Amino acid sequence: MISSGLGRVVAFTGAAGAVVGVVAGFRRRQAEFQAAALREFSRPSYNPPPAAYTGPVFKPRLDFPSRANPNNETFPWLDIDFRTEPEKYLYTVRDYCLEGNVECDFKVDQNQTRDWYHVPWMSSQPTGREPVHGLTMEKSSKQGMLSESQRREVQNWAVAFYNSPGANAVGQVWSLPWKPAQNGVTFPEGTVGFKPLFTQATEEEVPILKGSPVWKAAIAKTPREPGDRGPPVETRLIQMDVAVRDDRADIGWVFGTFVYHSSQSNDAPWRRLVPVCLQWGNDPDLTQQRYQEGARPVQTWNNPRIRELGILSGSRPYLGWLGRANGPVDNFKSCCASCHSTAAVPDKDNSVPRVVPPKDATPDQALRWFRNLAPGQAFQKGGKSLDYSLQLSSSISQYNQWKRSYLKNTLFGRLKDWWQEANPFQTVPPSGKDD
Ligand code: HEC
Repeated sequence: MISSGLGRVVAFTGAAGAVVGVVAGFRRRQAEFQAAALREFSRPSYNPPPAAYTGPVFKPRLDFPSRANPNNETFPWLDIDFRTEPEKYLYTVRDYCLEGNVECDFKVDQNQTRDWYHVPWMSSQPTGREPVHGLTMEKSSKQGMLSESQRREVQNWAVAFYNSPGANAVGQVWSLPWKPAQNGVTFPEGTVGFKPLFTQATEEEVPILKGSPVWKAAIAKTPREPGDRGPPVETRLIQMDVAVRDDRADIGWVFGTFVYHSSQSNDAPWRRLVPVCLQWGNDPDLTQQRYQEGARPVQTWNNPRIRELGILSGSRPYLGWLGRANGPVDNFKSCCASCHSTAAVPDKDNSVPRVVPPKDATPDQALRWFRNLAPGQAFQKGGKSLDYSLQLSSSISQYNQWKRSYLKNTLFGRLKDWWQEANPFQTVPPSGKDD
């Protein structure tokens, strides 16, 4: 009787110990996972700074504000009609983005005028941030795309920033660095995102770049091997994109772009960025056939001097599909608003939906990529909108890919650990000491 009672006590203690062990093991794995995710969340760059490099390095600013407009800013472009005064609107936004940033060379934590932030999780993949300025790899420009004298394919790299209202929305998605909120997000009015793009092309290759701001960046050795990085090389400011949340636009956003142009007489090189186009909708009805019949986009403003300024090279029919807004380094089968309208989660494989209409799409199918989606309306059925933010979309997709490989790499290790800790037959009792 006594011995069987004791047996029960021993069995009970063993089972309780096993449960404690499983819980402790699970908690430890979870803490390890969160610490690893936090490192990736704020990882400054894909490649470390080159050994011989002693200059400043990039550090993302990720302390997102908890309120949408913490400093009660006013947004002066909201008083300008972008349909009738597109250039004035764009110059106002441009100067807002440059204020204080040119002075600190875009190390935004040192900006004396206003707060700007980065998007996390942009360094996990081979196209991820380089270490000097935090640039990520963009589509490269094939020979002749930027000018007649550009005789090789050149790499383009960019870095994006959000102001406080934008960063507040980014912070809602990323309040837990190891678990993004995937129920969709909308950005408040007043949000501005901007993205200067730098090209590897030289002044000789693209003459309008003469005098352009130069950033040395540790980019890829060749466009085909994004992860194979070399020592810092000169890159030149060629384009700057802006995205402005504005309720008056058909899609709730105004997209605009500037190109650096040597002909501008301004002494400050960053202020030689010329407005090229502005877009407040996708022109959902503009088909190839209607274009051939003479129709043109009515929700895009293109600078009438684009050709004269040499911004559109001879081998390119238009900047964006059928005359819609786009930048010279962007894909001409798409346009700003089309590409950005695809920002949503999740698609089946938790990856970014295709940003450009597939090659074999019929004209009708292609129009699916040129709908005027409202903020909060997802591109795909059942998806959740990321409100035109492709950086958010990219950050979530990098997180998902990282998590998949983390779990794959550690699954067997975890099973083995769990088994050892939970095994009720082992001689040494499991301890719950890191509980
Ligand atoms: C072919 C697709 C494509 C086109 C066309 C495109 N973009 Fe983007 N854009 C992206 C992707 C992808 C990102 C995020 C990744 C990155 O920054 O490298 C992005 C990021 C941005 C950002 C940073 C904030 C954000 O929304 O993620 C801005 C601002 C921006 N683009 C503006 C523009 C403007 C303005 C145009 C037109 C002149 C444009 N884009 C055209 C794909 C595109």
